Amino acid sequence: MPKKQSVSTIRKLVSEGEKFTVLTAYDATFSHAVSSNGVEVILVGDSLGMVCQGRDSTLPVTVDEMVYHTDAVARGNQGSLIMADLPFNSYGNVMQTLENSGKLMQAGAHMVKLEGGAWLCDAVKALSQAGIPTCLHLGLTPQSVNKFGGYKVQGRNEDAAQAMIEDAKALVDAGADFILLECVPADLAKALTEAVDAPVIGIGAGKDTDGQVLVIYDMLGLNPHKLAKFVKNYMASDNTWQNAIQTYVDDVKQGRFPAPEHSFE
Ligand code: KIV
Repeated sequence: MPKKQSVSTIRKLVSEGEKFTVLTAYDATFSHAVSSNGVEVILVGDSLGMVCQGRDSTLPVTVDEMVYHTDAVARGNQGSLIMADLPFNSYGNVMQTLENSGKLMQAGAHMVKLEGGAWLCDAVKALSQAGIPTCLHLGLTPQSVNKFGGYKVQGRNEDAAQAMIEDAKALVDAGADFILLECVPADLAKALTEAVDAPVIGIGAGKDTDGQVLVIYDMLGLNPHKLAKFVKNYMASDNTWQNAIQTYVDDVKQGRFPAPEHSFE
């Protein structure tokens, strides 16, 4: 693994047919653990609202809180690409998106993640022109939980699946560097991954995306709540956190994770 990951090192890996790994981290210690054990991308996710702050959704997380956690992750990082979430209500128009993305980049992020479809094309274009790489999160976008009426699998019917593929294509045409797909049927994730010229990361999206992401507390068995179907607790079989992270990396690279029982058909 190169010493320092970037959008281009990840694109190169994908072009060579190698899968890449992503884990969340919210502080310097976990950032060090993740980045020194072969994980290419660290996601400073707004899931921190749930796993660090104990809230029941990601909606209360603020830009200042994301800046605080991104700054901590940047200090512990040993060379992974740091992707930071723009939180709910922080990218309503292009100016607001540029301003808040700039804060995350100045805190140490290498790319920002936004939740949403083609309506974000202008923002993606502006960010790209400003030198800020983007990852666009489609499918189950947790910031829209109130619109969805719960954390439900998305893209189950033909029209919704086609619309998601069209959104992804438009966003990549506008300059999106990565796409992240959450909780979608595995065959839709496969079709979308083949349809776009950008690395696609999956969570609950089957085995055919280019990369996989999990929330670190879930895969280390630290989440006290019932685990989602797509999560694997690596501490159930490995007895140290280092082994758990390394087994996750090996499993993704060798195509052993996610298995059919972690996917939606
Ligand atoms: O915030 C987060 O951790 C995420 C992942 C669940 C993909 O967006």
